[in-house]
Amino acid sequence: MTHVVVLNGPNLGRLGSREPDVYGHQDLAALRKLLDENTPDGFTLEVRQTDDESELIGWLHAAVDARTPVILNPAAFTHYSYGLRDAAALVTKAGVPLIEVHISNPHARETFRHTSVISAVATGVIAGFGFEGYRLALDHLGRISTTL
Ligand code: DQA
Repeated sequence: MTHVVVLNGPNLGRLGSREPDVYGHQDLAALRKLLDENTPDGFTLEVRQTDDESELIGWLHAAVDARTPVILNPAAFTHYSYGLRDAAALVTKAGVPLIEVHISNPHARETFRHTSVISAVATGVIAGFGFEGYRLALDHLGRISTTL
């Protein structure tokens, strides 16, 4: 079995009620359900969320140690957290995939959202497809399962 962690940063615990015009009406429980229903054979999955940068960094360290592929929505940390970037680099430099996902398309929004300090160390980036982006990331991990 390959374990995958889906890690979500600050304010994503408010999905469903937070800016539904941008993030939609579905909450984290709906995301869990979508991903549970689309977990590739041979995979187990865990969806987590935190508002705490150090907790998120700790989860990435654990992913390095256990060689656990990561689907990461860094939320606002995307735009400024060099600590999170360095932790994400530990994951990918260990040869473990880390896919950066955004529900919205940050490039179509305010200028400060156009910069991601994470993307350069991520394996790949998916943005602008709503919850579907997480499913696409999971689908990709399923397709490369023999290399994980
Ligand atoms: C987000 C985009 C970020 O700019 C924002 O701070 C978020 C969510 C997204 O999923 O579209 O919290 O990462």
